[in-house]
Amino acid sequence: MTDQTSNQMWGGRFAAGPDAIMEAINASIGFDKRMAAQDIQGSRAHAAMLAASGVITDSDAEAIREGLLTILSEIEAGNFQFSTALEDIHMNVEARLKEIIGEPAGRLHTGRSRNDQVATDFKLWVRDQLDAAETGLLALIAALLDQAEAGADWVMPGFTHLQTAQPVTWGHHMMAYVEMFGRDLSRVRDARTRMNECPLGAAALAGTSFPIDRSMTAEALGFERPAANSLDAVSDRDFALEFLSVASICAVHLSRFAEELVIWSSAQFRFVTLSDRFSTGSSIMPQKKNPDAAELIRAKVGRIFGANTALMMVMKGLPLAYSKDMQEDKEQVFDAADNLMLALAAMEGMVKDMSANRESLAAAAGSGFSTATDLADWLVRVLKVPFRDAHHVTGTLVGMAEARGCDLPDLSLDDMQGVHSGITEDIFTVLGVENSVNSRTSYGGTAPEQVRAQVTRWKALLAQ
Ligand code: ARG
Repeated sequence: MTDQTSNQMWGGRFAAGPDAIMEAINASIGFDKRMAAQDIQGSRAHAAMLAASGVITDSDAEAIREGLLTILSEIEAGNFQFSTALEDIHMNVEARLKEIIGEPAGRLHTGRSRNDQVATDFKLWVRDQLDAAETGLLALIAALLDQAEAGADWVMPGFTHLQTAQPVTWGHHMMAYVEMFGRDLSRVRDARTRMNECPLGAAALAGTSFPIDRSMTAEALGFERPAANSLDAVSDRDFALEFLSVASICAVHLSRFAEELVIWSSAQFRFVTLSDRFSTGSSIMPQKKNPDAAELIRAKVGRIFGANTALMMVMKGLPLAYSKDMQEDKEQVFDAADNLMLALAAMEGMVKDMSANRESLAAAAGSGFSTATDLADWLVRVLKVPFRDAHHVTGTLVGMAEARGCDLPDLSLDDMQGVHSGITEDIFTVLGVENSVNSRTSYGGTAPEQVRAQVTRWKALLAQ
């Protein structure tokens, strides 16, 4: 017989138990206990299917079901003894099941392996995270739509190279993020559809000789269908990689917006006031109100993208089918998921609470010769000047205003006519920022009517 200390689950051929260091590097229970609910859900589906297929008796299946429910309540109540010697969540649950129900527990693992079991548990876990990300994104988009609707006609400077470019509307700027987070939403849904195939029953790698019903377990666990190739089913971690890449792109978007909030809330910009609820003070400088939440959101992309890179590297070059390397998938995904959900919630909270400073936005919108393009466009439209020449004339006028330390509308008609004799008083009508944004009515442009149309379109999309 085997040594008492060898593993009770797989130690049949072992004369001795593992070295302490072996146990430490091998065990995943420290983190995969987060999948306890999914593990029990998968085992319940498997046991019910084994009974329905005549592989185990109904009474064994019933004992297994009862035992698993007891274990679930023990774990939920926090009085389950997790053991490192039992390596992972799968063996911890099964060992406890044996303590509770005895012999029938040993029949649960018929026609499956930890390889398909872990793939199933992890998929269920990741699927829940995709659903949570969807909820978080929808809430953030709703908050952005409220901001956009309220400020559809508030003028602000639009930037390229962070230099004043042309006036835009607050609503338009908010709606740019709606588009970005809307694409994240579509990626989340897309990834969920693609990943929704059940690995359970692929067994170790080759399938099983027991007459199992894989469609039954797939359906019980909310999957569309069983995964069609057993080798792939146990070695596929695309769903985790896709989650991490979707999360990474979303985190990039969050970081860009966070950066804008950091800039906008500074004393130099004063475009927005962040709420006290989403700011912090300084222990030494009493005047300070720091945008810490925005800064932390800006930083989260580092660890989320790091997780994506880490798992890509773990999976790279692995031969089929399962290798223990794949146990390194979970901590990356857990950490990325936790931080993505937190960042989404914090961003939603900040967007809901923040107030745009209309006066500062409007004052900034009119500075920096932001309507120079409108002036050039007027020369093209009214005087039929070729655009390149109009660009040059406008540049000369900008240079003149800059030298005098004034803005374009402050130049006189004489000044203007000195540069181009055809200019008339009418040109002053296009130099105002309101006029500028109101004129940009092309589809997707910054005009308030376009912004409102996009808000309506998004609300209808989200109501579906
Ligand atoms: N704890 C393992 C993991 O997370 C479960 C699968 C173990 N499979 C095996 N053949 N050793 O990947």
